[in-house]
Amino acid sequence: MEQREHWGSHMGFIFAAAGSAVGLGNIWKFPYITGENGGGAFVIVYLLCILITGLPVMLAEFTIGRRSQRNPVGAFRAIKPKSKFIIGGYLGVLAGFVILSFYSVVGGWTLGYTIKAITTGFAGLGTVEKTSLVYKNFVGDPRNAIFYHMLFMFINIFIVYQGVKKGIEKWTKILMPMIFIILLVLIIKALSMEGAMDGVRFYLTPDFSKLTGNSILIALGHAFFSLSLGMGAMITYGSYLSKKENLFKSALSVSMIDTGIALFAGLAIFPAVFAMGFAPDSGPGLVFHILPAMFSKMTFGFFWGFLFFLLLAIAAITSGISLLEVVTSYFIDELKFSRRAATVIFGVAIFLLGIPSALSFGALADFKLWNLTFFQIADNLGSNYLLPLGGLLISIFVGWVWGTKHAVDEIRHGSHNFADVHLISLMAGLKDDPSHNSDVHVLTLASLWGIFLRFISPVAITIAFLFTIGAIKL
Ligand code: PHE
Repeated sequence: MEQREHWGSHMGFIFAAAGSAVGLGNIWKFPYITGENGGGAFVIVYLLCILITGLPVMLAEFTIGRRSQRNPVGAFRAIKPKSKFIIGGYLGVLAGFVILSFYSVVGGWTLGYTIKAITTGFAGLGTVEKTSLVYKNFVGDPRNAIFYHMLFMFINIFIVYQGVKKGIEKWTKILMPMIFIILLVLIIKALSMEGAMDGVRFYLTPDFSKLTGNSILIALGHAFFSLSLGMGAMITYGSYLSKKENLFKSALSVSMIDTGIALFAGLAIFPAVFAMGFAPDSGPGLVFHILPAMFSKMTFGFFWGFLFFLLLAIAAITSGISLLEVVTSYFIDELKFSRRAATVIFGVAIFLLGIPSALSFGALADFKLWNLTFFQIADNLGSNYLLPLGGLLISIFVGWVWGTKHAVDEIRHGSHNFADVHLISLMAGLKDDPSHNSDVHVLTLASLWGIFLRFISPVAITIAFLFTIGAIKL
């Protein structure tokens, strides 16, 4: 069999996986849901969600991926040949199609706004009334919507087409440092403006009265989306890993980068919004309504606006390619497509599938099923149904079907450091060789990772899922 392509370096893998995680979810969504749900109080809850469900499930995905060296469907099959859990793999590939089809529409808008910022500087658009209108016209114009959606998909196809090392790894190694630098520059700028501290206070002062049961579930659902979990993106990226890699540390690094960037994104936005005298919008309009109005009034606003939307576009691209790679790797591994054919054919298919979503803000705005536009259906189906369901299957599969003990065997490769192996063994409830450590109390400690994967994550995901679909209310 042909040797599977592997990442060229440890950093290459971390950048690619963090690139998948860091996306519109971090920069567009996290700041406004934090602002809406009690600032610092929400941040604490979010961090807990990452710890108790995000990290264990990410480790599970990396482990399945590396063990099987396959796309999500092949991975389930390789590990437990006749298991029905393979459905989790198929749902993942489907999620890749569905999520990328609408993600690309918003990704396209960010490209359009990057160009708008540099060419017009949002000149004369100093009020939110004006920018809302511009936004409405922009996303409502079918030519714009389709053109930028196409451009976004084209960039994704262009990168994935070149392969794992020469495409995804090479590009994320360029793009991720750009994200860090641009974000840093924007934060310094925002914090140095007069009145910035009001924004910091708004963003981070814990207000526990705004933190409701619903906020907790929003945090949980968002943790999943933000870490790219539940659809096998991390299985696929994990499948290009060699046995040398330390999986636990990798999962920890990726989760930390993702959470860090989300937190910092708010620090680039709110201080500037307050300093310029705008009210923080409590919804998704923050980025496309308030910020352009704000840039319009700032000195060198075209430059800051350009940087901000470029940041958003880059973050969206590094996530988009991971979605496309899931689909591509499935067709390469299972149906023997060449990478080039798979990328182009299914990239174009996703573009076509996304057209009704792209038109959902104009021509097809009134075309609704279950009272939802195409865009909303794709978003709902992908983010609220497929991801939680996939995450549930993955954690049950590793926790119960494959078994954490076997999974830990896989994790042990690459954890040369004894302390690591020991920690992971403990987490999985394995008894370490007593000759290494005589502390029987520690060794008999119940398995942490095992407990999380078998009980805590599935229960938490199920509750969050029932909540998002409206079956329960907190
Ligand atoms: N994590 C990405 C974001 O925050 C979205 C994503 C979800 C990417 C699932 C891949 C898989 O924007």
